[in-house]
Amino acid sequence: MNIVLLGAPGAGKGTQAKLIEEHYGLTHIATGDIFRANIKGGTPIGKLAKSYIDKGALVPDEVTCELVKDRLTNGEVGAGFMLDGFPRNLFQAGELDKFARVDLCINIDVDKCLLMDRICGRRVCSCGASYHVSTLNGATTCAKCGQPLYQRDDDNPATVEARLDTYASQTAPLAHYYEAQGKLFTVDGGSGTPEQVFAVIKQELDKYIK
Ligand code: AP5
Ligand code: MG
Repeated sequence: MNIVLLGAPGAGKGTQAKLIEEHYGLTHIATGDIFRANIKGGTPIGKLAKSYIDKGALVPDEVTCELVKDRLTNGEVGAGFMLDGFPRNLFQAGELDKFARVDLCINIDVDKCLLMDRICGRRVCSCGASYHVSTLNGATTCAKCGQPLYQRDDDNPATVEARLDTYASQTAPLAHYYEAQGKLFTVDGGSGTPEQVFAVIKQELDKYIK
């Protein structure tokens, strides 16, 4: 079972990916995480990606598609994969169709007015855990592993505005792309807890995965 997770910045793609991975054992591949690891490692891809990520723009297609193609064709994907943050425009979706099969696109729909607060209030840990400041009660370390929490460089209001614009103009049209193929499942990601959103996704995935 191969899944594409679609949704605006802050919609909850990473949050749901973790829950789906834990429950179904699908391999989570997040292009944003791959770029951030490259930035941290100071690689040439990281240097290039940072110049785009800081502006809220998309990293060039040829770099991104090659990364995902390499990961899917040379990496172990076990029971299937779950792409978080890829494809991000129609060109990437067309390229993906050339090297892998997509069974379902889960579109996490969240009202734009919730997204800015979710993202600017997000604090993350290098172990992958993610929190919102409103639930931290002043804590500055991760409840799961004790490491210090930090804010992503692109989680500031100006960059978030640009990311939301990029999403609206380039990524949102992908919902129609997958709908036309009969592969779109849209879930309301804005009015329930992560666990409640996952329960709705699970109902759908249970139809595919026994
Ligand atoms: P990427 O890392 O993919 O970021 P994004 O798409 O902007 O999405 P986020 O990671 O910010 O949000 P999310 O949907 O994962 O939400 P989360 O679960 O964390 O990409 C970053 C950049 O890399 C791009 O801007 C681009 O430059 C580049 N890039 C990446 N892929 C690319 C590609 N294919 N092509 C070109 N460039 C690419 O949740 C957010 C917050 O909300 C958290 O605090 C969470 O705890 C909270 N939350 C989640 N669910 C709920 C809920 N149900 N209720 C309340 N709070 C919730
Ligand atoms: Mg994410």
